[in-house]
Amino acid sequence: MILVTGGAGYVGSALVPALLNAGESVRVVDLLWFERSLPAHPRLHVVQQDVLDVEPAWLRDVSAVIHLAGFSNDASANLAPAECLRSNVTATTRLADVMAQVAAHEQREIRCLFASSCSLYAAGPPASPGSLLAQEEVGVIPLGLYAQTKYEAEASLLAAAQACPEFCPVLLRKGTIMGAAPRMRFDLVANSITCDAWRSGVISIYGSANHCRPMLHLSDAVEAYLTLLAQPSARVRNQIVNVAGENRTIPALAHLVASTLREERGAKIEVVRALNQNDGGRSYRASSEKLYRMTGYRARRTVRDAALSLWDALVAGDFGSAPETDLRFYNEPWLKRLMAAPEANALAV
Ligand SMILES: NC(=O)c1ccc[n+]([C@@H]2O[C@H](COP(=O)([O-])OP(=O)(O)OC[C@H]3O[C@@H](n4cnc5c(N)ncnc54)[C@H](O)[C@@H]3O)[C@@H](O)[C@H]2O)c1
Repeated sequence: MILVTGGAGYVGSALVPALLNAGESVRVVDLLWFERSLPAHPRLHVVQQDVLDVEPAWLRDVSAVIHLAGFSNDASANLAPAECLRSNVTATTRLADVMAQVAAHEQREIRCLFASSCSLYAAGPPASPGSLLAQEEVGVIPLGLYAQTKYEAEASLLAAAQACPEFCPVLLRKGTIMGAAPRMRFDLVANSITCDAWRSGVISIYGSANHCRPMLHLSDAVEAYLTLLAQPSARVRNQIVNVAGENRTIPALAHLVASTLREERGAKIEVVRALNQNDGGRSYRASSEKLYRMTGYRARRTVRDAALSLWDALVAGDFGSAPETDLRFYNEPWLKRLMAAPEANALAV
C-alpha cells in the first residue's frame, strides 16, 4: 500500500489514479481544502486528517509514502505563515520521525518520496537564459517562506534517515507543473497563460524578460514518482533529484503557448507586455540530468503538449464556463476565503 499525503490536491489528483491503475492500494490523508477530487475506488481509502496528527497506524501495510501535503506556493505561504510552517515543516518532521520509528521497529524499509521544489534555487538576480542550470549538489539559500519551509522539511527527512537505515527518503525538487488535472490549478504559470489565451485571446507578460522556470508536465511528474518508487533503495536513498523538463523564460513560455495554439488550434492569440511589471518574481533554471543518470527517466512531454491538452479541456468545459473566476483553482484567494469562514481554524479539520 502507498500512503499519499495531500493526495486530493493538483498533483495527487493525477498521481493517485495512476497508482491505482498500476495495481497499488492507496491511502490518502488530506485536509481536503479543495474538496474531494478523487473518484471512489475499491483500493482507495481517503482520510480527512491533518498530517500534523500522524499516527503509526497510518503506516500499517504501507511500503512507501508520497508526501505532497502542505502549502504549495509563495502566495499562500505568505498569506498564512504560521499555518504554512505547521503544515510544511512541523508536520513533515513529525511524519519523518514516525516513518523512521516504524521502519526501525518493524525492521523493514519505508520509502518517502517528498515533494520539494526547484524554487529552492531561486536566489539573487534573474537567472538569464544562458546561466548555468542548478544541480542538486549546489548549496542553496532559499528565498521566501515557501522555499525555506521546503528546505527545512528536506533537512528533517534526511536527519530522520541518519538514525534509521531502513528509512529511505528521496527528495524530488520538482519544476513548475503544467497541464490539466481533476483538481485544477490555474495559479501555475503555464496553466494561467493558457487560460488567459482561451478566455481573452490575450496573454499578458509580467516581470523581467529573464525570469526563468524549469517546467514539468503533470504526466511526467506522475511518471517520475512511479519511477522512483520502483528503484532499489541503495540507488535512491537520501538522494535529492531535480525533476523538470524544459527551462523557459516567462516571455518565451507565453510566445510558445501562443504560437502552439495559433498553429494547432487556429486560435487568435496576442502576447503583450503588462503595464504593471512586477520584477519581484523568482527566477531559476534546473538540470534534471541526475535523475536520468540514476534511473534512466527523463521528462519527455513539452509545453506544447500541456498547452494543447489544457486548451482542449477548457474548450470542452471541463473547468466550467468561467474558470478564471472560480477561486478553487487559485490557492491563495481560496485559502483566504477558507480562513475567513465562520468556523474557527478553517484550515484544519
Ligand atoms: N504544483 C507545482 O507546480 C509544484 C512544484 C513543485 C513542488 N510542488 C509541491 O508538490 C506538492 C503538491 O502540490 P500541488 O500543486 O498538488 O498542491 P495543492 O495545493 O493542489 O495540494 C496540496 C494538498 O495538501 C493538502 N494539505 C495541506 N496541508 C495539509 C496538512 N497539514 N495535512 C493534510 N493535508 C494537507 C491540501 O488539502 C491539498 O489537497 C506540494 O507540496 C507542493 O509544494 C508543487
